[in-house]
Amino acid sequence: SSAEKQGFRHFMLKEIYEQPTVLRTQLDAYFDPEWYLQTQNPTVGERSRITGSNPPSAPASSPGLVQLNLPQSLYENLEQIQIVACGTSWHAALVGKHLLEQWAGVPTFIQYASEFRYSPPPLTANTLTIGVTQSGETADTLAALEMEQERRKSHHSPAYQPRMLGITNRPESSLGRLIPYIINTHANLEVGVAATKTFSAQVMAFYALALDLADRRKTLKAEAIESIIKKLRELPPLIERLIEEQDDYIGELAHQFNETSDFIFLGRGINFPIALEGALKLKEISYIHAEGYPAGEMKHGPIALLDAKVPVVAIAVPGLLYEKVLSNAQEAKARDARLIGVTPKDSLEAQDIFNEILAIPTVDESLSPLVSVIPLQLLAYHIAALRGLDVDQPRNLAKSVTVE
Ligand code: G6P
Repeated sequence: SSAEKQGFRHFMLKEIYEQPTVLRTQLDAYFDPEWYLQTQNPTVGERSRITGSNPPSAPASSPGLVQLNLPQSLYENLEQIQIVACGTSWHAALVGKHLLEQWAGVPTFIQYASEFRYSPPPLTANTLTIGVTQSGETADTLAALEMEQERRKSHHSPAYQPRMLGITNRPESSLGRLIPYIINTHANLEVGVAATKTFSAQVMAFYALALDLADRRKTLKAEAIESIIKKLRELPPLIERLIEEQDDYIGELAHQFNETSDFIFLGRGINFPIALEGALKLKEISYIHAEGYPAGEMKHGPIALLDAKVPVVAIAVPGLLYEKVLSNAQEAKARDARLIGVTPKDSLEAQDIFNEILAIPTVDESLSPLVSVIPLQLLAYHIAALRGLDVDQPRNLAKSVTVE
């Protein structure tokens, strides 16, 4: 009903606007210092029920900087992480892989659940398996996890026994019943079929997990972890302002794409998954063909598609890959592509290259996916809304796919 939309035209837009609130809830649940103190006394059960995460029977062996309440047995001698997911959750997992490898130093492999089921990788020892599913009901993801749990249980060696973790917005779901340990993404009900706030929430869950692991494995110093947590806490107000500043602007910009039938999204490093997610959002709700590509790979194929009719959206975040992305964008411009930069607006270099700038605040490159995804969600939303499409219930798609 319109009352449930709280004045927004669509649930999707309402849910885009809810992201700062969701992130704040997660920051409290995962990093709250009060909770940190409570883990050192027996009232720990109280809070774990409130955060909806794990039973008090499973506290960390020593309380750390991150309060996911996961047992040390999941992490002990960890050699590898494998993640299964579908759709947008798979994109969140790609961001997670980057963090788990770069911060916690654990080799991490991701598969689509539908692929994992029929070509499971050879079993490896001391492996954590993570299932990421917003709904906790996606059939392929559940089946892949169940299969993995079973084949590991029947293995004779203790090093191969299942260590399973779920990341979900529905701890009470089938996933919650299948898997003993859950990170609750705390995003509340998401109605729009195209995931927005639950994606950000999954990414935030991965920040917490990677920091927890980095803390326990001592791959990052406590001061480094504290500084990252502090910077994560600065994100919600920045994202609030970003949404407010960009919403109308992108709504206007969307008019330029009335005739557009193809889009390319480019990103690199930790923002490559965001290019994929930007393309997926556009496909899902506007039915425009879109491809997400790692910017450096464009020259090996997609560049052949480019002309004045194919806009290119490039995510250019100051940091390791900034100059690289800008020069990849230049190559697109040389093919007459209309160039849209998701980039801080104060850069003269960027102003020179891009025809349009979807301005994002300057944040650490490693935290940037949480800001860079926002303009892409708004872009997809406004293009679809302008075309008069059913944004919240796009054709052929379901909120959760409970059949294979
Ligand atoms: C469906 C939805 C997508 C979602 C995917 C995975 O295809 O339309 O938005 O990303 O399922 O859903 P899950 O609940 O497992 O995250």
